[in-house]
Amino acid sequence: MPTDTAPGTAPDTEFAPLPVGRDSGLIGKRIAGYRVEEEIGRGGMAVVYRAHDLNLDRTVALKLLAPELARDDTFRRRFAHESRVAASIDHPHIVPVFEASETEGMLYIAMRYVPGQDLRALEDREGALDPVTTGRIAIQVASALDAAHAHDLVHRDVKPGNILVAEGTDRDHPEHVYLTDFGLTKKSLSLTGFTTVGQFVGTLDYVAPEQISGKPVDGRCDVYSLGCVVFEMLTGVVPFRRDDDIAVLWAQQYDPPPPLSEVRAGLPDAADTVLGKALAKAPEERYGTCLEFVMELRAALERGTRAKEPPRDTDGGGRPQGPPPEPPAWARPVFRRIGEDGADRFDR
Ligand SMILES: Nc1ncnc2c1ncn2[C@@H]1O[C@H](COP(=O)(O)OP(=O)(O)OP(=O)(O)O)[C@@H](O)[C@H]1O
Ligand SMILES: [Mg+2]
Repeated sequence: MPTDTAPGTAPDTEFAPLPVGRDSGLIGKRIAGYRVEEEIGRGGMAVVYRAHDLNLDRTVALKLLAPELARDDTFRRRFAHESRVAASIDHPHIVPVFEASETEGMLYIAMRYVPGQDLRALEDREGALDPVTTGRIAIQVASALDAAHAHDLVHRDVKPGNILVAEGTDRDHPEHVYLTDFGLTKKSLSLTGFTTVGQFVGTLDYVAPEQISGKPVDGRCDVYSLGCVVFEMLTGVVPFRRDDDIAVLWAQQYDPPPPLSEVRAGLPDAADTVLGKALAKAPEERYGTCLEFVMELRAALERGTRAKEPPRDTDGGGRPQGPPPEPPAWARPVFRRIGEDGADRFDR
């Protein structure tokens, strides 16, 4: 495939270590069928660029994986298989993958460019999110995960950096959430070889106990990770805050999560029961699906909010007594006019 790489230049030498800084030297260059325009983010094993798809004349997100990964046969096999499965899932909350391939010893993925920010950035800016926003975001991620599980695809790396939050369609849907990076984690490969912890595995804050112990994983490891993400959305902190990686790994396997209200006052006890089940150490004790988990969570949060509302007096017939609530801003001129001429429109 044509590239702007100088003839005879070994790509691994050019690209390893991953280019750093906003202008990595790739800006303006052509990689496979894409022209690199701007770096939009980076993680432990990849750099993501906004790029132009030269064949179809559209903007894409181009993810270049670290050259080390292309040399890891297990990773390559899984990359090929899982990218294909992820690309075959057509779901409103999964980032569509356009191409997953290799050029000059480098694995890359071209996918829909999602304008906005990831959940990590949103949480870093806003801290804890309110229960309603949490429920709205969680349900979108849950539906994406359940759809993947129906295709026998386990995400394995559900975390705020892999949840992209774009602007929604209207006031009832203020954000549209996309899940990305299916099967792109190196965690399950490297956690058993402990020396690489920190080098590739990234954060351990959302990793399920069975991933740590190297047992086979299924969709329920995503239920666990989603539980950690939800805990953090509600409280502003992950369930297991520890001083170092080893202590986090231990806590994920053996410590119970703290009650939500211990971290952030005002969250209902009923939500603890739900999170306790999502974060059960044994997969068979967790919810069977992500949507089941999130629906129960939303119900618990709603019940908790209602229980805290002061009871309104009623006239015995169930109608609330006392002054009527303020009309919404848009209705104020109408109500003012009615008050001015002494008429009551609603009695006519
Ligand atoms: N399709 C996309 N559209 C827009 N931005 C994206 C897209 N995919 C990824 N990004 C941005 O690029 C950032 C880096 O992504 P990347 O997957 O390399 O790292 P990460 O998920 O944060 O960490 P890790 O390496 O541990 O997986 C993301 O956090 C996100 O902000
Ligand atoms: Mg990612």
